[in-house]
Order: sequence, then C-alpha cells, then structure tokens
Amino acid sequence: MVYDLIVLGGGPAGYLAGERAGQAGLKALVIEKRAYGGVCLNEGCVPSKSLLYSAKVFDYANHGDKYGVSVSGASIDQKKVIERKNKVVNTLVSGIEMTLKSHKVDMVKAVGKITGRSAEGYTVEADGQVYTAKHLIIATGSSAVVPPIPGVKEGVESGMVMTNREVLDLTEIPKNLVVIGGGVIGLEMASYYNSVGANVTVVEMLPKIAGPTDEDISDILLKNYKAKGITFHLGAKVTEVKKDAVVFEKDGKTESVPADKVLLSIGRRAVSADIGLETIGVEVNRGAIVTDRYMKTNVPGVYAAGDVNGKSMLAHTAYREAEVAVNNIIGKKDIMRYDAIPAVIYTNPEVGSCGETERTAKEKGYDIEVVKLPMAYSGRYVAENEGGNGIIKLVVDKKYRRLLGCHVLSNYASEFIIAAVMMIESQWKIDDIKEFVFPHPTVCEIIREALFQVKA
Ligand code: NAI
Repeated sequence: MVYDLIVLGGGPAGYLAGERAGQAGLKALVIEKRAYGGVCLNEGCVPSKSLLYSAKVFDYANHGDKYGVSVSGASIDQKKVIERKNKVVNTLVSGIEMTLKSHKVDMVKAVGKITGRSAEGYTVEADGQVYTAKHLIIATGSSAVVPPIPGVKEGVESGMVMTNREVLDLTEIPKNLVVIGGGVIGLEMASYYNSVGANVTVVEMLPKIAGPTDEDISDILLKNYKAKGITFHLGAKVTEVKKDAVVFEKDGKTESVPADKVLLSIGRRAVSADIGLETIGVEVNRGAIVTDRYMKTNVPGVYAAGDVNGKSMLAHTAYREAEVAVNNIIGKKDIMRYDAIPAVIYTNPEVGSCGETERTAKEKGYDIEVVKLPMAYSGRYVAENEGGNGIIKLVVDKKYRRLLGCHVLSNYASEFIIAAVMMIESQWKIDDIKEFVFPHPTVCEIIREALFQVKA
C-alpha cells in the first residue's frame, strides 16, 4: 500500500502528526522504535511531573505546620512513587495508541529507516518491510548529550551516571546526588531528590541557573533552592567523574563533591543519524534537520517536526510544528511562529515564562518598560504561600504599547502563562487587555495587577 504520509517517530510531534493526518482523512503510518509518546511521555515531561507531584505531597505533609496542619511520621516510599509513575505513563501511552487506531492510523513498532524513493514516493524500511509514502514527517526527537569527560562513559555503563531516562526509574533515593547541568532537567530532578531527602549538589558551567530564564526569576529560584538545602557550584566545569565523586574546576581551583549517583543533564541533541536522511538528500546543520516556517525540509514532500529540527526542544512546540506540517501537506497554508512559546520549569514554586526577557528585548533593540511586582499583590497567592517570594515581570514595548514578555515565579505559573502567550500572540494593546475581567481571587490576577503598573 502507498501511504499519503509516513511519520518517523511516535513522540509528541510524531503521534500528533499521525492523529491530525488521520483526522484529515490521510492514510498515515507512524513508525516508532521504543514506545508511543516518545521521551516526553515515557522518560521526560510526564513521568517527571508524576514524581514532582509525589514530592509536593510529601513537602505539604512535612511543612503543613505553617498552615496549621501538623503531620508526624510522613515518609516517602520511592518504589511506590516509581510504580505510580509507571501506571500514569502506561495509561497515557495506551491512550495514544487507541487514539491513533480510532483515526485509522497504522502503527509499526520497529526502527524505521529511509531507503530512498521510488516512482510512487519515498521508501522507508522497518522490521524487514518496505513502506512507501508521498510525504514524510521526520520526528525522531533528541537524546541526552553524553560528553567525553573522563569517567562519564564508565559511569553510564555502571549505572552510577544517569540521564533523564534512568533518573526516573531510581527505586532507591541516593544519599549524595550530583547534578551536572543546572538547566530544566537538572533543576526539576534536583528539586525532587532534595524534597525526598537526598543531599543534592548542582554543578553548572554558567554563572546562572535555568539557562535563558530571566535573571530576576532565576536569581530568586536559586535563593529558594539554596534555602531548601541544595548546594550550587556555578561557573564550574566538570573535569572528571570518579566512582564516588565528581571533580570540577572553579576559579582556577580543582574541587570535588561526593556522589553515589550523578545526573547528566547538560542538554539534548537531535537524533538525525542512521535514519537514512542522506538517501534522499535532507539538509542537516549540526545534527538538526533544517526546516522553514512551514516545517518543510529542502526535499519536496519531506517535513521535520519536534526536537529533531533543533529549534525549540519542547513537547508543546513539537505539537504545533506537527500540525503546521500536516496542514501544509493537506494544502492548508499554516506558518509556525516561535515568538511566544511558553517555557515552564516545574520546580516548587514553578516558573512560567513566554516572549522576550528584559535582556533579549534590549538586544533586539526594543524601547521597553519593565514592570516587576511581588506575587504578594495576589490575595490567593498570599493565602497559599506562607513566606512566598514569587514575582511577576512584564516586558512592554513602549512604541506599540504591547506586551513582549511575561515571566512568573509562582504556584500555578505553568497553568496561567497561556494568558500572556495569547496577549503576545494576538498583539493586543495594554489598554485593551486591561478591560478583561479576571476571576477573583486567583493567582493569575497578578497579570492584571502588573498591567496596571505599566506607564508607557
Ligand atoms: P538545558 O539546555 O536546559 O540545560 C543544560 C545546562 O547544562 C546548561 O545550563 C549548560 O550551561 C549546562 N552545562 C553544559 N555543559 C556542562 C558541563 N560540562 N558542566 C556543567 N554544566 C554544563 O538541558 P537539559 O536540562 O538537559 O534539558 C534538555 C532539554 O529538555 C531542554 O531543551 C529542555 O527545554 C527540555 N526539557 C524541558 C522541560 C520543561 O519544559 N519543563 C523539562 C525537561 C526538559
């Protein structure tokens, strides 16, 4: 059979591409080598949220006294935490398979490899079979970067060094966990293992944590995590991983920190090798497939969506890119925009941000006004966050009186940052947004409060 579309990879980009293609009446096949749902569902976004929720419940039990609730003898059962996480993952993975089936999308569980093209379309081999399609969407995702630091390879082999995959399956809480890389994965896992009782040390090469996150926000996050007992070594370069320690250089000095387990979270790289891209001439730049705003590659009929194009390694970006690709395949013009992609760090409290930071807005030459407001301006925040020090920060374009960026450190930030995304994407004027009625009392009212501080 000749398919309209073959999707290589069944992660967020791949399975959603299959689903949307099926909904549009295309005959589609999704080939996945491991598990549908990809890294996000099986060893990333979703399982980490399951663990972090367990930690939150444990934190509430341990610190309830601030709210007049005393719990004695609270304990954490790591095996149960992992069992529950597995249940959550299995439920959602089978949901994806059912959805694809219901849209009459074919699925093959095997490694797929592009082998060239025939008169009928592109050919892909999987499990000894050759499949043909007029269009391809490559959605093979990304994998953790494993650097050539002495001892890392041996550590990975022995199980002492973990990536995002293994850290989510630890059934025992390590005494000393060292996290290499203070980015999103590093911080979320540092947060979890700190809550459940490990000694956690984060070693980060840059002078700040949380990568591109606005400095005011990442500074408060750092302060909060230090107060919770996480040790940070910033501006520190790891030089060796030993059997029981991590060695790093900082300010010209060599230091060492004891480690039973090490989490390697220094970024991810697109998976574009060994999938046969060269057989049809797909352009790749530093491992990432080059795409335009329609998610097209340089080869007609071949698209790439999700982490593999290296643009924004986030599951929600992948979803939208997949939709853009499918829409263009069915002849519906659709363009991918990256201006207000939300970013969330699911620490406790959470960070939610979108659009320009103060720094990037200045670098791009905008004439801006910055509004910073403590979260204490929200009644519900005060009621629910004893001693909380969250903030909201707005970046406003003075010329057009539009919102350019919004950055929040607060509980529920992940849930309400979408309001700011819509304000930025729709290019609403500040005065128009002021007319919206927010529910009261809610934490998201902070956006309205901050908007009324804008002078521009
Ligand atoms: P990341 O890019 O967020 O952070 C990596 C950090 O490691 C950077 O701060 C970098 O300076 C540091 N680093 C690099 N080499 C180092 C070295 N040799 N020694 C010490 N530090 C070093 O990467 P991460 O945390 O691995 O996450 C990977 C991807 O997964 C990201 O693109 C992220 O967007 C995505 N992700 C998103 C989540 C979310 O949206 N909540 C959750 C988890 C992952």
